[in-house]
Amino acid sequence: PKQQTLAIIKPDAMAEHREEILGEIRAAGFSISQLKEAVLSRDMAEELYREHRDKPFYRQLVDFMCSGPCMLLVLTKENTVEEWRSMMGPTDPVLAKVTAPGSLRARFASDILHNALHGSSNQEHAQEKIHFLFGDITSDRDLTSN
Ligand code: CMP
Repeated sequence: PKQQTLAIIKPDAMAEHREEILGEIRAAGFSISQLKEAVLSRDMAEELYREHRDKPFYRQLVDFMCSGPCMLLVLTKENTVEEWRSMMGPTDPVLAKVTAPGSLRARFASDILHNALHGSSNQEHAQEKIHFLFGDITSDRDLTSN
C-alpha cells in the first residue's frame, strides 16, 4: 500500500542543491503529490518541531528553519517513510559520510543542525504535519514530471 511522508528541503540546501535533490527524489520512484516553496514563520517552525521543544537545540533549529525559503513536499510511495529516511541518511552528516556515503545528507549537509533535509519519523507524524502544512488535501495529483 502507498504511504505518504513529509519531506522538507531546508534553507541551507535550497540555493545550491534543490534541483539535484528534486531530480533524485523523482529518479528514486517517489511521486511528488504536493510541493510548495515557503518561508516558515516562527509559529509554523515551532509547531512543526513541537516534539523537540525540550531539546537544547530547539531555538537554534527554529531560527534556522525560518532563515530562508524551504521546499515542502508530500512524497508518495510504498514504505515511503522508511525509504525517504534511508535516502536522506543519518541526521548527522559526520555519521552519514561514514555509514551512508551516497545518502543526500552525506553529500549536501553541513552539520547536524544544517542538515539539508527533513523527513517524518513515522506515519502518524507524517499525517499530522502534512495536514498542518498543506491543510485538507484530498486530491492525489502526481507532480512528478512537472
Ligand atoms: P530533522 O530530521 O529535521 O529533525 C530534527 C532536527 O533537529 C534535525 O533534523 C536537525 O536539523 C536538528 N538536530 C538534531 N539533533 C541536533 C543536535 N544534536 N544539535 C543541533 N541540531 C540538531
